[in-house]
Amino acid sequence: MKNFTKSIITNSPEETQNLGIKIGKLVECGTVIALTGDLGSGKTAFVQGLARGLEISEDYYITSPTFTIINEYPGRCRLFHVDLYRVNDPEELENIGLIDIVNGIGVTAIEWADLLPDNFIQNHLTLRIVRVDDTSRELSFFSYGHKIEELINKIVL
Ligand SMILES: Nc1ncnc2c1ncn2[C@@H]1O[C@H](COP(=O)(O)OP(=O)(O)OP(=O)(O)O)[C@@H](O)[C@H]1O
Ligand SMILES: [Mg+2]
Repeated sequence: MKNFTKSIITNSPEETQNLGIKIGKLVECGTVIALTGDLGSGKTAFVQGLARGLEISEDYYITSPTFTIINEYPGRCRLFHVDLYRVNDPEELENIGLIDIVNGIGVTAIEWADLLPDNFIQNHLTLRIVRVDDTSRELSFFSYGHKIEELINKIVL
């Protein structure tokens, strides 16, 4: 079941990253985070913070895995960073093994998750990012499932 829970305005990329850090510290391994929002809205900025919160080494510079589709990083939980922008055939999702990844034990962050077929992911957190102006973004959280709601409640915005 989908529930809208909270939204917050961030006023810089660092503030968006900081929210990612908070979530990275709290999130359980196995969680899927679906990111939606236009080009340049801040999905990757959020994942950069998420990675820090998951204790992924700062030696890794996190960018949109546009050509590789999936990047993988070791941390407190393994982070799978997925970008579906260039995926135009659902068969490709099978080729890249996305089903196993979202059902696996890592944390999976998916940019352009709105391109997934309906019900591709069950319990997950959706974060929708909307550009307000050059430096401000509205981040809205939607929970699908109990555990995710608990996670969102723990995030002090
Ligand atoms: N409050 C903010 N939060 C996040 N990014 C911001 C904010 N204000 C400005 N920005 C800028 O917006 C851009 C966000 O880029 P980012 O690569 O994170 O977007 P994206 O959603 O991943 O885009 P794409 O769909 O192309 O992968 C950066 O240039 C960043 O500096
Ligand atoms: Mg990106």
